[in-house]
Amino acid sequence: MTDLGLAGKSAVVTGAAGGLGFAFADGLTRAGARVAIADINAGAARKAAETLAAQGGAAIAASVDVSDEASVEAMVSQVVAAYGSIDILVNNAGIYAGLKRKPFFEITTEEWDRVMSVNLKGAFLCAKAVYPRMKGRGGKIVNIASATVFSGSPLWMHYVASKGGVIAMTRVMARELGVDGINVNALAPGFTLTEASKAMIEDAENYGVARGAIHRAAHPNDMVGACLWLASPFSDFVTGQTVIVDGGRQFI
Ligand code: NAI
Repeated sequence: MTDLGLAGKSAVVTGAAGGLGFAFADGLTRAGARVAIADINAGAARKAAETLAAQGGAAIAASVDVSDEASVEAMVSQVVAAYGSIDILVNNAGIYAGLKRKPFFEITTEEWDRVMSVNLKGAFLCAKAVYPRMKGRGGKIVNIASATVFSGSPLWMHYVASKGGVIAMTRVMARELGVDGINVNALAPGFTLTEASKAMIEDAENYGVARGAIHRAAHPNDMVGACLWLASPFSDFVTGQTVIVDGGRQFI
């Protein structure tokens, strides 16, 4: 593989105990980065870190609730103590698994607040905590959004709105942090086969496939290239952007 310039970089990937986050962490370690698997599911995060370590990657587990500022601060301190710095933050943790699809007028304020507090506030808190460690050295922030923002996917407005907020936040942070040499971009995956998505959609293998330019389902590894690019020096002049990776399901 081409040297991506990621060797020795330290990365925090939130929500990396499984699914897409684990694929990002796996890709980063294979490219030589040292990765912290930061997840609310401490047991699964530990197992994920062990799996990466067993295949020769540098990985640690860090327990965190991204919606809680003190917990995020503690996680960031733990990672800095272990790796000495944080060069890359992938804001991937999200409430997605188990979301009930329903008309917007049936979404309760509790459901709305919970989704917003993890998907939107969580990304804000992690960026806020990591920023002082990147200031003066530069860095890369990759926010995981969703292609549902562009399709206006019905029946989970809280989720779609939270991801729309992630894209808006990405643009603001990019403008504020460019002066610090910190690039901030979003990656918007289309429907991707993970344990979470398969449990939510019937016949997931075929879901939306006919609408795409590429007629097959997406797997987590299909998202990794864009994430590595946005985390690497190859994207040094790219910031504030949203890269949609959906096999050409929607052209905007
Ligand atoms: P997932 O539900 O397996 O991954 C979410 C991860 O975040 C889990 O490991 C979970 O333990 C963790 N998490 C949840 N709340 C947390 C909190 N408060 N603090 C820390 N960690 C927390 O789902 P999947 O499919 O891997 O999705 C990952 C990300 O990609 C999510 O942000 C999701 O919205 C986004 N996405 C997924 C798509 C898909 O089709 N699978 C499509 C577009 C975006």
